[in-house]
Amino acid sequence: MLRQVTGIRYVTPLREGGSLPGVVEADDLGTYVAKFRGAGQGPKALVAEVICGELARRLGLAVPPLVVLDIDPVIGRAEPDQEVQELLRNSGGANLGMDFLPGALGYDPVAHPVDAALASRVLWFDAYVENVDRSWRNPNLLVWHRELWLIDHGASLYFHHNWPRAQAAVHRAYRADDHVLAAYAGRMAEADAELSPRVTRDLLSEVLALVPDGWLDGPDFDSVDAARAAYVEHLAARVARRGDWLPQGSPA
Ligand SMILES: Nc1ncnc2c1ncn2[C@@H]1O[C@H](COP(=O)(O)OP(=O)(O)O)[C@@H](O)[C@H]1O
Ligand SMILES: [Mg+2]
Repeated sequence: MLRQVTGIRYVTPLREGGSLPGVVEADDLGTYVAKFRGAGQGPKALVAEVICGELARRLGLAVPPLVVLDIDPVIGRAEPDQEVQELLRNSGGANLGMDFLPGALGYDPVAHPVDAALASRVLWFDAYVENVDRSWRNPNLLVWHRELWLIDHGASLYFHHNWPRAQAAVHRAYRADDHVLAAYAGRMAEADAELSPRVTRDLLSEVLALVPDGWLDGPDFDSVDAARAAYVEHLAARVARRGDWLPQGSPA
């Protein structure tokens, strides 16, 4: 399981994307970016955050720590915004928290060149999980303490929105033209040689075990164990088919 904390104060909404994450203070004195279960994207966005975030971390990429953030909707009662009130009302119980990085800067590819090895590992990872949210316009990368941090993986793994057709996504190619680091990613073969052997069934099972049961118990499967097994199967099959989806990257 992920570490579990309880929200004690809703601080402020973050209005950049569509899902209306909020900054929440918790009982461990930590401050978290909360992704709410009751947001329009639904619990699958939270499942994608955990699977991708924890997988990226295990592949050596920097991702702020994730927690399960227990929310009692009363923490929003002083919040004047109707939309926030309603979101909190629909999100009682387990939500996702990501450690808030104070003073982090949004990544700007012109101001922050990234070395080819790191850019290639990030592109490899995004291609693997089909992350469409790492574009120039919307990089979802932060620069903090001189390191590049990956955030916002809720729109990845979109095969899980249509399980009957998920098989077709196992070898689906990734369009890298829009990727914010594509121009720096000149070492894709090395990134592949380094990362693909690390994505084992054991690693995938370890990551799936971190997803709370309550986010997996939708109508797609008979049990949460069957749901976990389906993700592991899909992701293991995709890494085996990387010849079909791996972007070439820019010339080194
Ligand atoms: N861990 C974090 N630390 C600091 N700022 C963050 C963190 N996570 C998100 N943010 C800020 O909040 C914005 C929205 O968060 P994000 O996860 O991208 O959600 P969405 O795009 O779905 O609204 C980000 O673009 C970033 O500016
Ligand atoms: Mg975002």
